[in-house]
Amino acid sequence: MEEEIQRLIACARDGRERAVAPYSGFRVGAAVETEDGSVFTGCNVENATYGLTVCAERVAIWKALSEGAGGFRRLVVVADTEELTPPCGPCRQIIWEFCGDIEITMANLDGKSETVRTSELLPRAFDRRFLKT
Ligand code: THU
Repeated sequence: MEEEIQRLIACARDGRERAVAPYSGFRVGAAVETEDGSVFTGCNVENATYGLTVCAERVAIWKALSEGAGGFRRLVVVADTEELTPPCGPCRQIIWEFCGDIEITMANLDGKSETVRTSELLPRAFDRRFLKT
């Protein structure tokens, strides 16, 4: 388990190298792992409108889904911060929708990490259960 997490952290760090963050300078990497062990990485991608920026977590999830993957069991987010960077609000919603109550590991470049569950970051989440369709 710890080995798997370390492997995924390495993938997320790799993803972070490809961050497109000329406006904020804040580079983030992410990696999601599926039940069958496939890994998809992501990085934040900014652009001149600022508002159309996409976070590393969502890029990783969109890459996986667009490749036909699913059944996620773990997600890692890496940034160069002393206090571990958690997924932002919109990403928490997307992680809940597409990954469910998975393990989310936050890590920095100094080897510090902490693992929490989606439900801890987004308690009492809105989702399809509330839609009467
Ligand atoms: N960012 C992420 O990619 N993931 C997070 O969890 C937090 C924020 C990015 C978005 C933007 O490119 C930069 O970090 C500053 O907010």
